[in-house]
Amino acid sequence: MFRLASSRLTAIPRIAAVRTKTTAAAAAPRVMTASLIKSLNGHANFELQSSQFYLSLAYWFDSQNFSGFAKYYKAQSEEEKTHALKMFDYLATRGETPHLTALPAPPVKHASAAEALQAVLELEQTTTAGIHDLNSLALQEGDPATSQFMQWFIAEQVEEEDTARRFLEEVKAYDRLPGLLYHMDHFMGKKAKKVGAE
Ligand SMILES: [Fe+2]
Ligand SMILES: [Fe+2]
Repeated sequence: MFRLASSRLTAIPRIAAVRTKTTAAAAAPRVMTASLIKSLNGHANFELQSSQFYLSLAYWFDSQNFSGFAKYYKAQSEEEKTHALKMFDYLATRGETPHLTALPAPPVKHASAAEALQAVLELEQTTTAGIHDLNSLALQEGDPATSQFMQWFIAEQVEEEDTARRFLEEVKAYDRLPGLLYHMDHFMGKKAKKVGAE
């Protein structure tokens, strides 16, 4: 009788201890690794760099009397800023303090509209590669929350690259007939309203 009572007494605390430990582990926010924090912070700053690039591009188009392109890329600049803030906000939610860094100056001039839009496509491709790297790092570091967070950016980049490629092809086709670039400029101004709402 004594042995039975004793084994029951030892069994109950053991189960209780395991349950408490499991519940505590599940409830505790997982700490992000230093490399993931650094990479997220770095990419958020890169989104700000993209914002600067688009703003500078908008003023270059304005200097070429393409007000529609200028309006569109000003709106695009704002959208890139929202991407940076989304990432900084996420870092803050995970208990980290975002670090804003100095940014390299964006190009002021472009040889042609086609060359400018080629630079846009390359910028978006670089952004996509950075986002994919971040997702891979999050998975590698065992941080499913960050990987889940990155899915929105992965989908966004599919759209961003597609838009950049389409505009580049359109400009390349119209570059041979400059009058048509003004036709496209008119539509770029109208499309500007939709940027940011996407
Ligand atoms: Fe972006
Ligand atoms: Fe972008």
